[in-house]
Amino acid sequence: MNIIPAPSRLTVLSENKTKIDSIGFGESLLSDEAKRDFLDFCSLRDGEPNIFFKKDENLGEEEYIMKTENGKTYIKSASAAGQLYALQTLKQILFQNGFSLPDVEILDKPTHKIRGFMLDVGRYFYTVDEVKTFIRRMAVHKLNLFHFHLTEDQGWRIQIDAFPLLTEIGSKRTNTNFDRIPREGYYTKADIKEIVDYAHAFCIKVMPEFDIPGHCRAAIACYKELTCFERELPVATHWGVKHDVLCAGKESTYDFVYKVIDEMCEMFPDEYFHIGGDEVPKHRWDLCPHCQAKRKELGLKDSDALQFWFMNNIKDYCKAKGKQSFMWNWDLKNDKDIDSDLSFALCNSDTDIGDRAYIDTSAKAYYIDLPYGYISLRDTADHKTKNKNCLGLEATLWTEYVKDMKKADYMTYPRLGAFCENAWNGGIGYDAFEKKLEYYYSFLDYNNIGYAKPHQANPNKLRKPLSVLWFERRQLAWEGLHNIFDDKKIEKMAKEK
Ligand code: ACM
Ligand code: ZN
Repeated sequence: MNIIPAPSRLTVLSENKTKIDSIGFGESLLSDEAKRDFLDFCSLRDGEPNIFFKKDENLGEEEYIMKTENGKTYIKSASAAGQLYALQTLKQILFQNGFSLPDVEILDKPTHKIRGFMLDVGRYFYTVDEVKTFIRRMAVHKLNLFHFHLTEDQGWRIQIDAFPLLTEIGSKRTNTNFDRIPREGYYTKADIKEIVDYAHAFCIKVMPEFDIPGHCRAAIACYKELTCFERELPVATHWGVKHDVLCAGKESTYDFVYKVIDEMCEMFPDEYFHIGGDEVPKHRWDLCPHCQAKRKELGLKDSDALQFWFMNNIKDYCKAKGKQSFMWNWDLKNDKDIDSDLSFALCNSDTDIGDRAYIDTSAKAYYIDLPYGYISLRDTADHKTKNKNCLGLEATLWTEYVKDMKKADYMTYPRLGAFCENAWNGGIGYDAFEKKLEYYYSFLDYNNIGYAKPHQANPNKLRKPLSVLWFERRQLAWEGLHNIFDDKKIEKMAKEK
């Protein structure tokens, strides 16, 4: 029998199989949405109870024991999560047995506490219904943390009452890298509540990301005083690291950041908060009188140290609100300058991270927006998490080049299947995963989920460079040359002041 992710133990108890023609739930901790989802999957009528739940406090938080016998299913768990995961396993058992139920016993529990999926809605907006689809599919893969990347250079996506321009202006861009089509969209507070409630119904926590002090061009387009030289800049249209970032010297910047965090914390009740911290060029800070004054006041040796201070300071603000903060470790060479209670989203595994807690978001395995020529299915499946103090794993779907669900499906599947093995059971390796691949494709088909085919997901020597070349056409829209001239302009401006 194929189950993805593989359970800790599966025993077939007899040759007996019982045809199932209705589903009835005994008393459970499951949400209506989770029950509905299961019934929709089975396409069977409601009937007399045949799935029974029993609370067992001795089991771990997300653990379950499931036994099926003569068409009846008995599930033991300590929580709604255990019950939900048992149902996801039951879906796969029913599906591959033509909705007959064999007699089996399954013992199962996760290896990693955090099993995350990140969706970047900053580059391209995804509707509430699309976000819910991502969430539902996360549950199928037994993932439990939805990382919502909400603020970007190319778009601000969340209603903040204190700063209405963020959505009025910051949620719209005039065009994108490769088409001239304007794009826009944002979530109201009611939308966010709907998404968070929906995630909770599937035992998924939501971690919002407010990416600071870089990746803030959409906010800067609304409130130019947020940046060092108060320039009038549009919401970014193109790919690339932007040099105009939040000014770390002005008190008004901190006032802005705190107020946004206040409102975000009201909308997102779970304990995790992501404060970004990636790709922060220091060109403006080095020239800005406010940033330099702040640096001197704090006795910091350079602008890098100013960024470390900035991140630590924002982490403290979030901590006072009961949040565990995460930051990308993208720009760091070692972790010494960042407080140990600021956890890493470890995208760059070359950083020496000491004993710090982290989530493995390796850019070499789990950046599932990258072409399969860079990260093959095999690379994802065979990735090993090396460091201690790993809180979990996260797959990240950046969307600079993922403009709709069709492309999202192609990039995400079948990689998410391999990823969820690593997240749930510590990984079975590519060779074992490959044996389940044909089954996985049929399961994805049944669920109406698109995917890359085997020759696309593991491109051969010829296809590999082609896949990469197609992606790297983005270099044509690179702003590097523009940045060089733009930097000179700022240098002249700073000198004249
Ligand atoms: C990142 O890849 N910019 C975190
Ligand atoms: Zn500044």
